[in-house]
Amino acid sequence: MRFIYRFLIRPVVFRLLPEVSHRFAVDSFRLRPVWRLFGLFARSSDGDQRTVLSGIEVRNPVGIAAGFDKNCEVLGSLLDIGFGYVVGGTVTLDARQGTPKPRMIRRSKEGALINALGFPGRGLAPARKQLARLSPVVSARTLISISGTEEDSIRECLVALEPLVAGVEVNISSPNTAGLAVFQEPVRLRQLIEMLSAAKSKPLFVKMPRLTDSGAFIELIQAAHEGGADGFVTANTLPIAHQGLAVGKGGLSGKPLLESTLELVEQARKHLGNGPTVIGCGGISNAEDARAVMDAGADAVQLYTALVFEGPGIASSISRGLRATR
Ligand SMILES: Cc1cc2nc3c(=O)[nH]c(=O)nc-3n(C[C@H](O)[C@H](O)[C@H](O)COP(=O)(O)O)c2cc1C
Repeated sequence: MRFIYRFLIRPVVFRLLPEVSHRFAVDSFRLRPVWRLFGLFARSSDGDQRTVLSGIEVRNPVGIAAGFDKNCEVLGSLLDIGFGYVVGGTVTLDARQGTPKPRMIRRSKEGALINALGFPGRGLAPARKQLARLSPVVSARTLISISGTEEDSIRECLVALEPLVAGVEVNISSPNTAGLAVFQEPVRLRQLIEMLSAAKSKPLFVKMPRLTDSGAFIELIQAAHEGGADGFVTANTLPIAHQGLAVGKGGLSGKPLLESTLELVEQARKHLGNGPTVIGCGGISNAEDARAVMDAGADAVQLYTALVFEGPGIASSISRGLRATR
């Protein structure tokens, strides 16, 4: 399957603008019976890899990261193709246009993307409708990513969406949204997480920024841990300047991030000990990468860019490879 995608499908899809091909991918995932059938073959030798993430039992430790299915339209199909769990969103209280275009660039030779989307999305009410339609099997393996620039709006998202999913991931780390960085200040983050912890009844994960200063990274982890976070997703994209983007800067994702993901996971695990969940995210594109991230201390992994470059067989291929090296 990987061969067919790489040599037949990808060259055609990559002729389209990145945002157009993303829309095309999401639309194609609406054909759920096709992906169910695809999954029957792709997942046939995945085996039993049940993993528990802060009390949430998932089918395998490979998750689709936030941002692919921003409006929670195709989460069932993403599970069908072999992801052990899925993250919908990021959802914000109000609908957002995102930043001006162009706002997404492919770096094909490096297996990387740069995006400056800035949370385009339909907002809380439509996301709630979509999540309410999920079957119990899908919702039991769904995390919802929420964000905002004010505590109250994030809390409102949590209260409205948490009952419909297995857990919540709060995104304080998108480099493309003005105002979000306020929560990368430890005191402010701790207050936010304390407030959300008081309102939550399911596991709460924090999507960490990809900080290059390890002292600052650990300080943030500590603040969120003290505030009551159950787990951490390490980490979001790497802020980077690029003149091809209308806003001149965005977030780098894909293969170039693997090294820093390994370092951040190791630091987080060392600091937190064995208690909280650590999920490694960034640059994972095959089973060896995923194994290395798990060996560095992660309980599970998430990916986005590898789905774009390697195609729909990627989740089952990684989970099969992880099983073989367990
Ligand atoms: C186009 C695009 C959109 C993204 N949107 C979100 C988002 O809405 N929320 C979020 O937490 N992360 C978002 N991310 C970051 C990913 O979830 C992930 O952290 C990052 O891409 C690193 O993983 P990867 O190298 O496997 O892609 C986005 C990434 C990409 C490429």
